[in-house]
Amino acid sequence: MTEIVLIPGDGVGQEVIPAAAEVLAALGLGLTFREAPAGFGHFEKTGNAIPDETLADVEATGLALFGATSSPSGGVVGYRSPILALRRTFDLYCNLRPTWSLPVISPRPGVDLLLVRENTEDLYVGRERREGDTTVAERVITAAGSERIARAAFEQACERAGDRRLVVTIVHKANVLKVTDGLFRQQCKAVAAEYPDIGCNEMLVDAMALRLMRDPEAFDVIVTTNLFGDILSDQASHWMGGLGVAPSANIGVRAAVFEPVHGSAPDIAGQGIANPLGAILAAAMLCDHIGQPAAGDRVRAACAAALAAGVATADIGGSANTPTMTRAVLARL
Ligand code: NAI
Ligand code: MG
Repeated sequence: MTEIVLIPGDGVGQEVIPAAAEVLAALGLGLTFREAPAGFGHFEKTGNAIPDETLADVEATGLALFGATSSPSGGVVGYRSPILALRRTFDLYCNLRPTWSLPVISPRPGVDLLLVRENTEDLYVGRERREGDTTVAERVITAAGSERIARAAFEQACERAGDRRLVVTIVHKANVLKVTDGLFRQQCKAVAAEYPDIGCNEMLVDAMALRLMRDPEAFDVIVTTNLFGDILSDQASHWMGGLGVAPSANIGVRAAVFEPVHGSAPDIAGQGIANPLGAILAAAMLCDHIGQPAAGDRVRAACAAALAAGVATADIGGSANTPTMTRAVLARL
């Protein structure tokens, strides 16, 4: 029996995670669920953004579905983002962010790419300091960290390839960040040499930002460092139909956490109008991860069919609310 920890978090996380759990439960895979708290609301009540019990639950099951949490800009003393804590605690080094064309809502057909983002290093190590009127953030890139994310990207390319020859594009800024991105690029190229059946090329991140807008269908798998991946993946989600539908996975050796790409959306929280598809498609990635790719495909097909039938929430141009969008998917499973 596979148990999944549900961490709804704040804002619309509370609305989309129950919807995704309902879809998972309907698959007949014998999945069970336990809910665990985290987030800014929990912090305000208890002084703790993510209690040890929640971490212990994730440790025990190795699987979680995470909504989103609110992180006030500028920071609040003692508060640290729960998703960053989960990524750090469980060394969830591999962030998978797929983007593909969906019926009706995608701006164009033919996009099918996977962005593989390093998830533990780079500027996100949190080593920021102030020295008088100068502020410094340290960018940490390691040989081992670069190698394992490159390997993850090439393994993903093998899985997606079928009988096609896919290409992994290494995205970096090694012309300026000669030491850090120089190492990342070198490690990626060394791993590429072990995968003769997968093509490999490279692109500077600024050039990629433009290419991703101009011809997204040119890319199969993109591998990049943490900050570049954060930015490029939000950008890439445009081709799916926006943040409300984009899913992601945070994968480590001991645990994996699946989440929609969007945040807590305080501007629409509590109204029951949040788009549940990002969370539902994240649940489909969870199915893939636990060795049930056919179930994942069923969920993706049901979402596509609901969209093709014209059901959509307001963010993607429709008038459905969270429950009607969810029921439209359930009805097509
Ligand atoms: P956001 O993703 O929450 O919202 C951006 C825009 O997209 C808003 O207009 C929102 O209404 C819309 N949107 C997002 N999800 C939607 C959904 N499911 N259905 C319909 N519309 C949706 O990003 P924002 O506004 O930058 O951040 C809000 C809060 O979320 C902040 O406190 C931020 O720190 C947090 N955040 C948390 C993340 C996480 O927990 N993984 C990720 C990103 C942001
Ligand atoms: Mg982001």
